[in-house]
Amino acid sequence: MQRIAVLTSGGDAPGMNAAIRSVVRTGIAHGFEVYGVLQGYRGCIDGVMKPLTARDVGGIIQLGGTILGSARALEFKTEEGRRKAIREFYQRGIEGLVVIGGNGSQTGAYALTEMGFPVVGVASTIDNDLTGSEMTIGVDTALNIALEAIDRLKVTASSHHRVFLVEVMGRDCGYLALMSGIAGGAEAIVIPEVEVNPESIALEIEHAYERGKSHGLIVVAEGAKYNAQTLASYFREHHKDLGFDVRATTLGHVQRGGTPGAFDRILATRLAAEATEQLAQGRSGVLIGLLRGEITATPLSEVVANPKPLDPKLLELAKVLAM
Ligand code: F6P
Repeated sequence: MQRIAVLTSGGDAPGMNAAIRSVVRTGIAHGFEVYGVLQGYRGCIDGVMKPLTARDVGGIIQLGGTILGSARALEFKTEEGRRKAIREFYQRGIEGLVVIGGNGSQTGAYALTEMGFPVVGVASTIDNDLTGSEMTIGVDTALNIALEAIDRLKVTASSHHRVFLVEVMGRDCGYLALMSGIAGGAEAIVIPEVEVNPESIALEIEHAYERGKSHGLIVVAEGAKYNAQTLASYFREHHKDLGFDVRATTLGHVQRGGTPGAFDRILATRLAAEATEQLAQGRSGVLIGLLRGEITATPLSEVVANPKPLDPKLLELAKVLAM
């Protein structure tokens, strides 16, 4: 193998650029020529790729987002779309690919390997919902951004004795909400993995005020059955008499656009270096992630077949700490 390519796919995540830089530079060190594919799988199908030198990836380690761009390409979900992509690779002499991305991206990577094209995945998504990596690139930075907002909202919530609902991202996974709720000292956390009814959350908050709290902070995952705005409307309608005033804030893409912190830069650099190493050793069909502090390779077949569970003990812990 002499020529490999790298792409970023799905939602961007802080640290993706550090991963691209690491693939390019460690790839060159292994004697590869490294191509960058623009706009994720869309760029594979359209053949939009260019050689990257060590200098091309200079000055990007500290940048959020991805210099290669990212996209969601429906056509790649079809076998015909993937065949086009493989043709584009072979026309350029590209024989291996590193896919930096989350769940959907690694499903695409697995489909490519099933068609015989060597791919190694790098776990990167702010959702932290990938089996095969306890932490994915971007989640630590996204958590810190959410926390900064939560800390600020708590200040104003306390001044006015208000309830604040803060909605964080995570798609169908409650990890960001759970962890930012614990680290931000939330009174309640609402996640998709555990169904709750608005009434019980209202009661929790009422009890928190009775225990002498000056605010009620509720962190809500975007994928939960009731989002922050719905819960806020419910509280306003049904709990006028409870004496708390409610506000809702949705953090949205603010969480994705940040400057990667040290953890994400180092994680990205290490995971991507190992992905290149795997290709150099002639291995593929695996996701490179972090498990028990070690850089590991998990078969993509396992990654795509098994959803990553949340630790229910953490939710219990959050409840205890909200006393
Ligand atoms: O997967 C990352 C993520 O930010 C999710 O948390 C969120 O649900 C989704 O992407 C948003 O996607 P888009 O950027 O296409 O609106």
